[in-house]
Amino acid sequence: MSGWRPGERRADTVSMLRVDQAGEYGATRIYAGQLAVLRPNCPEAKLISRMAAQEQRHLARFDRLVAERGVRPTALQPLWNIAGFALGAATALMSEKAALACTDAVETEIDRHYGRQLEQLGEDDPELAGDLAEFRAEELEHRDTAREAGAAGAFGYPLLTAAIRAGCKVAIELSKRI
Ligand SMILES: [Fe+2]
Ligand SMILES: [Fe+2]
Repeated sequence: MSGWRPGERRADTVSMLRVDQAGEYGATRIYAGQLAVLRPNCPEAKLISRMAAQEQRHLARFDRLVAERGVRPTALQPLWNIAGFALGAATALMSEKAALACTDAVETEIDRHYGRQLEQLGEDDPELAGDLAEFRAEELEHRDTAREAGAAGAFGYPLLTAAIRAGCKVAIELSKRI
């Protein structure tokens, strides 16, 4: 890292990659849980399948970066496996709109999360910053897709999305460290 001088704060890309891999993994599990419950041909399932394919791409990219750079993955992966799937399945069982509200909430937090990381990176690590910017744009698209498809019509939308967003924040903080 040229340009770095002692005393300057450098972005902690190790913890960034750990939490990002965990998050994209969690996203694939949420969508898997939703798709396990939703009727295969309903409009929501079609939207969600498309988003799930993009999450797989995001995850594959972070899997590679984590491996290339020797980052220790989060120890919480077994938890995100189950919690992600359960969140997806539970929201889809409530209703199709609740499944969309889940995407709305999750992607709102992920957008903020990637935005903060991009700020922290600044000019550091253009390779990672490029991926983050690209993925962030797709997460925002997911959020907007969910909103346009009527996420806000879910029963209890304000409480449901607030709870999911709070859960995401906790998951993000834990996956940075553990
Ligand atoms: Fe993603
Ligand atoms: Fe996403």
